[in-house]
Amino acid sequence: MLELQSEFTKKIIGVYGQRGVDFLTNLETIISSYEQRWHLKIHPPYELSYNYVAPATRNDGIEFAIKIGVPNPSFTMEYETLRMLASPSVVKVVDEDVANGVLLLEKIKPGNTLATVKDDVEATIIASKVMAKLWRPLPSHNHLNLPTMKDREKSLESIVQSNKNGCGPISKKILAEALTLFKQLHRTINQQYILHGDLHHYNILQSGHNEWKIIDPKGLVGDREYDVIQFLLNKLPYENKFSILDRRINILVEQLGLNKERILGWGFAHSVLSTCWSVEEGSLDENFFHSIGVFQQLIEKERG
Ligand SMILES: Nc1ncnc2c1ncn2[C@@H]1O[C@H](COP(=O)(O)OP(=O)(O)O)[C@@H](O)[C@H]1O
Ligand SMILES: [Mg+2]
Repeated sequence: MLELQSEFTKKIIGVYGQRGVDFLTNLETIISSYEQRWHLKIHPPYELSYNYVAPATRNDGIEFAIKIGVPNPSFTMEYETLRMLASPSVVKVVDEDVANGVLLLEKIKPGNTLATVKDDVEATIIASKVMAKLWRPLPSHNHLNLPTMKDREKSLESIVQSNKNGCGPISKKILAEALTLFKQLHRTINQQYILHGDLHHYNILQSGHNEWKIIDPKGLVGDREYDVIQFLLNKLPYENKFSILDRRINILVEQLGLNKERILGWGFAHSVLSTCWSVEEGSLDENFFHSIGVFQQLIEKERG
């Protein structure tokens, strides 16, 4: 009998309902079928969130990581994005059965996440190095089906429309400001890029002594300055947010030649959006909420 991490089963059932229950019931059988198909021994899993991810060894001794999820469009999007952003600093797809929610990936070793790097300046410099190699300008003949920042804008717009008196602790005025800024930043994107869409410390893994590789893209089309916000908001202590964010942003601007004003604007607008998402899901994320005010202060400081 397969023993599963309880947080994982809760998340899967929370997101997918009955399909999630069926997936969990069949998981042991699914695992054995891919062991046979790809000649693998699949080992106990990593710490899980929304997918079953486990190290595996093929019968020729080569190690892999297998990712098994409930088949859905975002799983397919992850695969498409991994193909489009393929490079030595992005995890390699070795085989796939995406229609059934399965990816066979190169195993990244030692594979500890960027969250294990305690020095925040060092972690930010590492993140900027992988970001520099990641983004690709969107091809002009684009047949991609990736989500775009327009989808995020629409999400914020519908939140504003259905929360006329504000959203949780966020006032009506802040909501309106966030939407105006989102639209303005969106209109003024110079060059659209293929973005990761969920680029934080836990999706950057150490590979060898000095290299780091990116895993788990959601895929998004838009502004590079938006793709750094997940990183900025992650692993932020409740205290000292202002100085840590200020320092992280200055490093990213310097290392990547990004536009600081746009990062600050997206930071504010996205913090509002994320806080509203958390309110809609029934539990206010205090950290996202707190970040709204910090980005406002950073914007004021920048304007002088
Ligand atoms: N290719 C890989 N090599 C080594 N470890 C991996 C690999 N892919 C994922 N992991 C481990 O599995 C965890 C979950 O994988 P991830 O793709 O982020 O799943 P989810 O989509 O559920 O967030 C990661 O945090 C990492 O520890
Ligand atoms: Mg992940």
